[in-house]
Amino acid sequence: MCGIVGYVGRQKAAAIMLEGLKRLEYRGYDSAGLAVLQGDGITLVKSIGRVAALAKLASSRKLSGTCGISHTRWATHGGVTDANAHPHVSSDGQIALVHNGVIENYVHMKRFLLEKGYTFKSETDTEVLANLIAYHYAKQPAVNGEGSRFLEAVRKTLLHVEGTYGIAVLSPAHPGEMVAARKGSPLILGVGEHEHLIASDVSALVSRTQNVVYLKDGELVHITPAGFTLSTLDLADVSPVIDQVTWSVDEAELGEHPHFMRKEIFEQPLALENAMRGRFSADGSSANFGGLNLTPADFRTIDRFVFTSCGTGWHACLVAEHLIERFARIPVEVDYASEFRYRNAPLDRDALFFVISQSGETIDTLAALREAKRKGYKCMAICNVVGSTIAREADGGIYQHAGPEIGVASTKAFTSQLLISAMFALYVARMRDMSFADGVEYIAGLKAVPDLARRVLEQAPHIQNIALRYAKYNDFLFLGRLSLFPIALEGALKLKEISYIHAEGYPAAEMKHGPIALISDQCPSVFLVPKGELFNKVLSSMQEIKARKGLIIAIVPENLELPEGLADEVITIPDCHEAALPILATIPVQLLSYYIAVARGCDVDKPRNLAKSVTVE
Ligand code: F6R
Repeated sequence: MCGIVGYVGRQKAAAIMLEGLKRLEYRGYDSAGLAVLQGDGITLVKSIGRVAALAKLASSRKLSGTCGISHTRWATHGGVTDANAHPHVSSDGQIALVHNGVIENYVHMKRFLLEKGYTFKSETDTEVLANLIAYHYAKQPAVNGEGSRFLEAVRKTLLHVEGTYGIAVLSPAHPGEMVAARKGSPLILGVGEHEHLIASDVSALVSRTQNVVYLKDGELVHITPAGFTLSTLDLADVSPVIDQVTWSVDEAELGEHPHFMRKEIFEQPLALENAMRGRFSADGSSANFGGLNLTPADFRTIDRFVFTSCGTGWHACLVAEHLIERFARIPVEVDYASEFRYRNAPLDRDALFFVISQSGETIDTLAALREAKRKGYKCMAICNVVGSTIAREADGGIYQHAGPEIGVASTKAFTSQLLISAMFALYVARMRDMSFADGVEYIAGLKAVPDLARRVLEQAPHIQNIALRYAKYNDFLFLGRLSLFPIALEGALKLKEISYIHAEGYPAAEMKHGPIALISDQCPSVFLVPKGELFNKVLSSMQEIKARKGLIIAIVPENLELPEGLADEVITIPDCHEAALPILATIPVQLLSYYIAVARGCDVDKPRNLAKSVTVE
């Protein structure tokens, strides 16, 4: 939800910010803009559309300033117009500001500012912040030098703000200075040689520095080329902790791939290896999770797990539920984070909470985590982004180590969440009734997954051919059972979000309780066929579809044979351990959605209306 990049240093800010913005485009791509300090004032360039449009416009301007702020927008307040694009400048020209988040009490503040004579050009909540900082700046006497006056004006403004923000602020009265602050929206300071950067995500910083400070909620930073000072809204000094980013800029590049989504689908074997690395016990029968900060004795007292997340992460929770209940026989409850935070659900006394979040910044998931903690529950996080807010606020957790995921549709992060869930199910199962021998076999099954995933990926050309034949349909059903039901949901979500095709996921047997009414020769069904006792049941569901002239794409374990002519298309997946099945079954639905979206000419990495990291409610 919106990306921010700011630069203070000795180089021209515009080019550096534009490069950073390109890497943040996945956070929003309605419009983009930048402001640099040069001469005595602010030079502003804004454009609706992508960062490329802004870059084109910027190239026609002389932008030599070495201090700037920039933004790529995902619209919340106000439509997609040049006027609503950030940065916003106060009506007295003294303050320029970019913002990620939502200011909830902006109507009240706007009324106050209008009475004071400030004017507005946009419909955004952000412009209110720019004017309010200008108001406090005008009122503020110089204390301990001019820099403090600027910082103090920002601080005073933020004391009146309700809502969420990551902001970066400039003033032409303070060349070579920037103030940034966060509450509820991510903001990271990059510490370079004679330069500092501010950004919503490390991917926008890594080409210039690997040294970063993750700002915490309620912190402000005053930045110059030579240094920075960190403080809180209530004026306490903060000693900065400088972290090292462990991945390089190459990992966030497309390489030979036309889209990040394709790249990330093909990176899955590696991401799966990374999720497992060093996480099996010495005796080879269980898993190890150093970051959970809980002893086996602690786990013995837990009588229920509650998993919450959003979107694709919620599907991972459903798989975790199935695996933990199946192998460890411990009850699991799954809730949408957005519902949990308001549901005031009655909870067991000895429940342990888990949130799953690739980005670690999803506002609903963060709010669910805070609600669980407020009620006194321990809360663990399964997270991909190191140092993210959720990772930092959780009591413990498991990092995914999947590498940066840039494509808006989650792929490698999802399968890595499934693998971690499978390992966690093993971990708790081995504390209960799972035998040593079954634990050893389970691990062998998981260790085989990366190579089996490579074998599924080899079918990409076959799946592409199927996609070309089916790209013309506008309705799809995805059907699966038990651990494959969440994969049916995930397949439907992938297809709708990147190709705008209507798709629904159902447990296969539920199909005849309503969705079967959709079936015709214009609504194909994608069946995720299980092995074991439900195989024949799913075949019956397929027969019911065929009897109504429905088309069937079947994803089938390779040792199972379907009756001749039952499926129109067959994609096989290698035989595997039961705990690995959801992972391998996911890859074909990802590829199918990807190739259908490409065939329909959709922008798969930046689907309409979406942004990768949903940091507003
Ligand atoms: C869909 C997708 C979203 C995210 C959801 C949660 O492909 O990516 O549904 O899964 O917005 O995001 P994270 O995992 O970052 O909390």
